[in-house]
Amino acid sequence: MKLDRKPKVLFTINEIAERVKKLGMEISEDYDGEDIVVIPLLRGGFIFASDLVRELKIPVNIDFMTTSSYGHSEVSSGIVEIINDVRTNVKGKNVLIVDDIIDSGYTMEKVVEFVSMKEPESIKICVMLDKPSRREANISPDYVGFTIPDVFIVGYGLNYGDYYRNIPYIFTFDE
Ligand code: IMP
Ligand code: MG
Repeated sequence: MKLDRKPKVLFTINEIAERVKKLGMEISEDYDGEDIVVIPLLRGGFIFASDLVRELKIPVNIDFMTTSSYGHSEVSSGIVEIINDVRTNVKGKNVLIVDDIIDSGYTMEKVVEFVSMKEPESIKICVMLDKPSRREANISPDYVGFTIPDVFIVGYGLNYGDYYRNIPYIFTFDE
């Protein structure tokens, strides 16, 4: 699929790498002496999570959940479905949920509610991007790569029309 709009780079490969390294240090310090279960949300969270876990200096177990939000791809419908659950028993464990972006917050709200029922010791949220101005659900991430305004983001896991998740930098479109 060819891009029909002009891309504008928001965060370069180097800026992303630097930020992810710092997040990894911060998370490793916060969980010092403990271990965690990292749960990347598929599909969008897979690139960020794979970079992040390689910056963690603590024992890490990784398992995946797949979420889907119905409706138009650029606007969250608020109806979130858990399509695939983790296989790991997270009861009594420290869970870190990782996603590409938090927007309305409905996805995270649903995931946190769902994972809470498994009785983990703790649940925290880590996202690469936070669009706080769009928040509708009553939830906020514990770790954020970059806080951004209300613009549509592509690359580094984020899709545009089912493509471009593999683009290694974060971009938006020129108006
Ligand atoms: P929320 O449930 O509204 O917080 O949205 C979470 C999901 O919507 C993310 O995991 C993304 O898959 C998708 N999403 C939200 N904003 C963007 C964007 O700017 N670009 C691409 N996908 C987005
Ligand atoms: Mg997503």
